[in-house]
Amino acid sequence: MGFLNEAVAEPALWFSGLGTASQIGVVLLGIITISVVINVLKQALFRNPNEPPLVFHWFPFIGSTITYGMDPPRFFKENRAKYGDVFTFILLGKKTTVCLGTQGNEFILNGKIRDVCAEEIYTVLTTPVFGKDVVYDCPNSKLMEQKKFMKVALTTEAFRSYVPIIADEVTTYFKKSPDFKGQSGTVNIPPKLAQITIFTASHALQGKEIRDKFDESLADLYHDLDMGFSPVNFMLHWAPLPWNKRRDHAQRTVAKIYMDTIKARRERGETGSQDIMYHLMNSTYKNGVPVPDHEVAHMMIALLMAGQHSSSSTSSWIMLRLASRPDIMEELYEEQVRSLGADLPPLTYEDLAKLPLNQAIVKETLRLHAPIHSIMRAVKSPMPVPGTKYVIPTSHVLLSAPGVSATDPQYFPNPEVWDPHRWEPDSPNAPSLVRNEQDEEKIDYGYGLVSKGASSPYLPFGAGRHRCIGEQFANVQLQTIVAMIVRMFKFRNVDGSDKVIGTDYASLFSRPLEPAIIYWEKRDRA
Ligand code: HEM
Repeated sequence: MGFLNEAVAEPALWFSGLGTASQIGVVLLGIITISVVINVLKQALFRNPNEPPLVFHWFPFIGSTITYGMDPPRFFKENRAKYGDVFTFILLGKKTTVCLGTQGNEFILNGKIRDVCAEEIYTVLTTPVFGKDVVYDCPNSKLMEQKKFMKVALTTEAFRSYVPIIADEVTTYFKKSPDFKGQSGTVNIPPKLAQITIFTASHALQGKEIRDKFDESLADLYHDLDMGFSPVNFMLHWAPLPWNKRRDHAQRTVAKIYMDTIKARRERGETGSQDIMYHLMNSTYKNGVPVPDHEVAHMMIALLMAGQHSSSSTSSWIMLRLASRPDIMEELYEEQVRSLGADLPPLTYEDLAKLPLNQAIVKETLRLHAPIHSIMRAVKSPMPVPGTKYVIPTSHVLLSAPGVSATDPQYFPNPEVWDPHRWEPDSPNAPSLVRNEQDEEKIDYGYGLVSKGASSPYLPFGAGRHRCIGEQFANVQLQTIVAMIVRMFKFRNVDGSDKVIGTDYASLFSRPLEPAIIYWEKRDRA
């Protein structure tokens, strides 16, 4: 007994001899150790056979947040190898179930409206940035109508008018930019493509009046709006933090700029314009209510933000890939000379269809560098996973990652190789099981016909009711930007190698790490 008393008394004496800060440290360490032990025991002892396997993690709440956040595609592939296509991990305290492969894509992206919900996940981030009553701040049926208004505005006639606008913006940009003075030089390319993307998209989709404002106030305001999209805002969207205050001020100011422009356009009695703002200003919901001006303004913000990140990241990757493969950049130039004529006349919408390699460059870059690596949905009713004994409970979030099937050797031979020629039918790297959309069964969720199945391994624009409506615009924009840059420049890596920089996953949309510096040289004709 005396021995036991001594054993207890000694640590107690040691503890009371510590300073207050050290005592707090010791208590915290104790709590952490106990919670780690309980967490590990729970994983080892209480596995629910009707739920997918849980990725092993030491710390509760943090779970796998750090390994996932550092490199999501690697995280998916490593855990797919351990646990199979369906597994759960802890993301900031939330059980997040990943469903991979073509069946996983189908299960989540084509989930029924009573089972899955996008707005519950995204609204905290998007509503303070876009504004009220649009996209995820309204019932899904209203979003479907809004998507229809946007989509019907993107007609062939509209695209025909956009190509010269985009081509002209690209040429003017390089003529004016101090970074491209002289015959050759080096440049950190992603910020340049970010500017070109916003100038071309705002001019084509929102008209010249708005485009011109990007030379003045709008660029900074959009930057402040963008800060609202930091992943930390999934938790801190409400907090009176400096970046949230700037976000809210920018939202009010940008919305007012759009509303003033709408008012001015209405007063002018404008007719027959091809930009989306004009179409939305003249659209009416099924219940007979014309789209209010504040909703037009908020949709304008949403459209530009949705397109900006994805298109600017994709165009940056294209340029970095071309710098790593100058031979392919030459092939692109030769394709234009061969198909459009040696004098390279002004580019038209019809010309884009005559440039299959130019199209394949965009397609192949999106296969390897899809800007949206994780698509999330809240679970609204327990969902049995077909072909398994698992039922996903409503306490979980679902996560789809179509980028995994787009880099699966089962469908894409040598999947890690960037090979635009793989999209030619007789290529040794040609994909299997990538169906032609035209041949697929179609469904209308309220915004026009889209492919019914989501089971293609190649889905950079998503699938189902939340599928992208900007795909055709993005293709026109990206193909035009690439064609115009190829006419003006030759690129290569500064060290002449074929290396490509890594990916930055720190924001919601993945993009190249910076600085991503390339060497440029003007073609003689430029
Ligand atoms: C939705 C990708 C460009 C507007 C989506 C989704 C993906 C995607 C994967 C589905 C998101 C989900 O299911 O949660 C891309 C890529 C682009 C691109 C890779 C460019 C390379 C654009 C552009 C616009 C746009 C230029 C606008 C003109 C939208 C809209 C939605 C959407 C409105 C619907 C959101 C919903 O219904 O929840 N996009 N996008 N996107 N995108 Fe795009």
